[in-house]
This record gives sequence, structure tokens and C-alpha cells, in this order.
Amino acid sequence: MRIERTRPGDGAKRPYPSVAPPRHLAVIMDGNGRWATRRGLPRAVGHREGAKAVRRIVESARRRGIGTLTLFAFSADNWKRPEAEVAALMNLFERYLAGEARRCVANGIRLRVIGRRDRLGPALVAAITAAEALTADGEAMELRIAVDYSGRDAILTAVALLPCGIPPTRQDLLAALGRAGCGGPPEVDLLLRTGGEHRISDFLLWESAYAEVWFSDRLWPDVADPDLAEALDWFSRRERRFGGLPPTPAVSLVASGGPREEPVHAA
Ligand code: IPE
Ligand code: IPE
Ligand code: MG
Repeated sequence: MRIERTRPGDGAKRPYPSVAPPRHLAVIMDGNGRWATRRGLPRAVGHREGAKAVRRIVESARRRGIGTLTLFAFSADNWKRPEAEVAALMNLFERYLAGEARRCVANGIRLRVIGRRDRLGPALVAAITAAEALTADGEAMELRIAVDYSGRDAILTAVALLPCGIPPTRQDLLAALGRAGCGGPPEVDLLLRTGGEHRISDFLLWESAYAEVWFSDRLWPDVADPDLAEALDWFSRRERRFGGLPPTPAVSLVASGGPREEPVHAA
């Protein structure tokens, strides 16, 4: 009897059971501006193409069994951009929400917008409220769109909701992030960033404490289902330890003779 023991990353002969798709996938959708600039087009065109990629990825994520998908659409720091670009983005969000809400209903997707609303225009706030109400019963996937979002500000807002004088637990804070409308459970399993930058840019800081992080050089408007498939395949080969030790390896019977236990953490 021979015990075959391979490690994650060893390739096809992997006796570890396939990991389920991430419950919560979060995406920093970066590269719209460069996509447009490389083609000699205004940055706003890149954002428009980016909205088409959003449609593609929402559909693939739902098909691939993702429970919660959070997309970073506009950071609290993006207000620093030129007024015309900010206006184009706000206009795009409003049109996206109006156009996509029905498609979400048809696909069983519950849509929520996380982040601050007090700095958004009234028409956009109305579009958010309407889209959230229309899609409230969706059960196939929750789509969270982060607009005027900052991970640090989200934590500050959540802390303000906690009762004074009682030390909160991590779960208390996570729940408060949800109540504050700026994130919350489940924690992020897989965090993707496109556009070639290797940073978090103040996205879902609390929720991503143990996220697996995948970076791609692909610019967001070029992203499509095969990219998501690649990221999910990579995720399925991660060994998530959460500070512990690797799990007991699965035993595969590759010859007769009966199973033999191997030490769990043999060198
Ligand atoms: C991401 O693309 C979208 C937003 C931040 C709104 P960018 O606009 O940051 O694109 P690059 O990084 O300049 O290419
Ligand atoms: C992060 O992208 C925000 C969004 C994708 C909405 P940025 O382009 O704003 O991030 P930095 O400035 O490169 O860190
Ligand atoms: Mg960018």
C-alpha cells in the first residue's frame, strides 16, 4: 500500500478535495482609465466599458455559485479626481442602477449599495433606493456595490453604532458594519484586483482580514468569465490556515495493501 501525498499547487494529481467557491468575492475593479488612455479615448469611455465588464462578471459570479459579490466602484478618495470624471462616474452609476435592477430581479440577485450616501446627488440616492427595494427578494446572490466607500471610515461608522462601555467582539464589529450599511458579514474569502496594482486602496479592511488576494494585470474593461474562472481555480488550491497548521492531508489509495496513516505534520 502506498500513500500518495501531494501539496496544494502540485498540479492535477491533487488528493485534496476541491474547495467550494468563495462565499464572498470582492473585486477592486481597476484600470478603466488606462484602458481608455491607451486607445486615445477619454477616461469616461473606459468607465463605460468597465460597466459592461461589471455586467459580465455579475452574471459569471452568479452562475459560478458566489453568494456575495462586492464590487469597488468609487472610493471615498476618488472625489479627488477631476470634477468632469466624477460627474461621468456618478451619471454612469445612476444609469447602471436604473438599467440593471430589472436584470437583477430576473436573475434572483439582491442589490445593495454600501458606503456613504450623504455626498451623493439626490437622483442617484433615489436610484439606489429604488434598485434596492426592487431587488430585495433576490436569493441567488447578493451584489454589493461600494460607492463613496472607505474601509477605514466604515470601521469608524460601525464603532459609533456599538454600545458604549462594553468591549465589542470581532463579530459585534462585523455585524455593526452591516447595520451601518458599509459592509458586514460574510467576511471576504477571495479579493481580486485588476489593473496591475498590488494594493488594497482602503477597501473592506475589516472583512478581508483572512482573504486570499489575487492580482491580475488585466485592465478591468477587458475582464471576462475566463479571468474569474482562473481566479476561482487558484482559490480552490489555496490552503487556508487562519493562523493554524495545515489540515490533515487526504489519503489516496494508489495501490493495494490497505491505508497507512501518515503523520499530520511530517517534515
Ligand atoms: C477604476 O479605474 C475605476 C475607479 C476608480 C472609479 P481607474 O479609473 O482607477 O483606472 P486607472 O487606474 O486610472 O487605469
Ligand atoms: C481603487 O482604485 C478604487 C476603485 C477601484 C473604485 P484607485 O485607482 O482609486 O486606487 P489607487 O489610487 O490606484 O490606489
Ligand atoms: Mg486606478
